[in-house]
Amino acid sequence: MRVVVLTGAGISAESGLSTFRDSGGLWDGHDPMQVATPEAYADDPALVQRFYDERRAALERVRPNAAHHALVRLEETLRDDLLVVTQNVDDLHERAGSRRVHHIHGRLRSAWCTTCGGRHEWDGPLGHEPPCPACDATTLRPDIVWFGEIPYGMDLVEQALAECDLFVSIGTSGVVYPAAAFVHWARGETLELNLEPSAGATDFARTLHGPATRLVPAWVEELLG
Ligand code: APR
Repeated sequence: MRVVVLTGAGISAESGLSTFRDSGGLWDGHDPMQVATPEAYADDPALVQRFYDERRAALERVRPNAAHHALVRLEETLRDDLLVVTQNVDDLHERAGSRRVHHIHGRLRSAWCTTCGGRHEWDGPLGHEPPCPACDATTLRPDIVWFGEIPYGMDLVEQALAECDLFVSIGTSGVVYPAAAFVHWARGETLELNLEPSAGATDFARTLHGPATRLVPAWVEELLG
């Protein structure tokens, strides 16, 4: 059984990380066009760096939840037949123990040097313009895919979707592409696990609504039998 799981901010909500579009979400407090585009970064790098420095620092204060751990249990059984594709830039899947996680929107814990192209694991702030560990240039940006940039590794994702027996979408509003199209690219059965019906809910063969910490462990138990 080959399974592709897509996760969005909703899987991290019960760990205490804000989603984007729920009330009080990140896009309530910030205009994405001011903090999540290459133009915004060119225009006001300090503002953009501060936005991501705050989100990177918040990772220290949160922990994976039962939904993340349920996906680890699934991976222990399915091994390389499970691929977790996440839109999230947090590290909760990895900290729960997932080993095969693909971040299509980048990662908070990675810094990308725009001089040498090097990517470096990064825990602290970037706002004070630290030197690149590889080339010393003070041109490290958040390794985040901003609006207008190309998500990472889409060829790998497309192939996994074309070959899967089951595609499960967890905790995403289904309004940002290309992830919102995955349900159409998936070969096999499709299932949405979300707090409420997403924008693409009617495209799924099956939908279950409720908190991820309840739905995901129950679904994994059902699947593993
Ligand atoms: N359990 C399950 N689902 C939840 C929970 C929860 N506890 N809390 C919220 N949700 C659902 C919401 O109902 C919503 O459908 O999670 C979804 C979160 O939607 P968004 O805030 O839009 O986050 P996401 O879908 O991940 O956004 C996609 O948009 O801004 C860009 O790059 C950013 O990766 C992000 C992308």
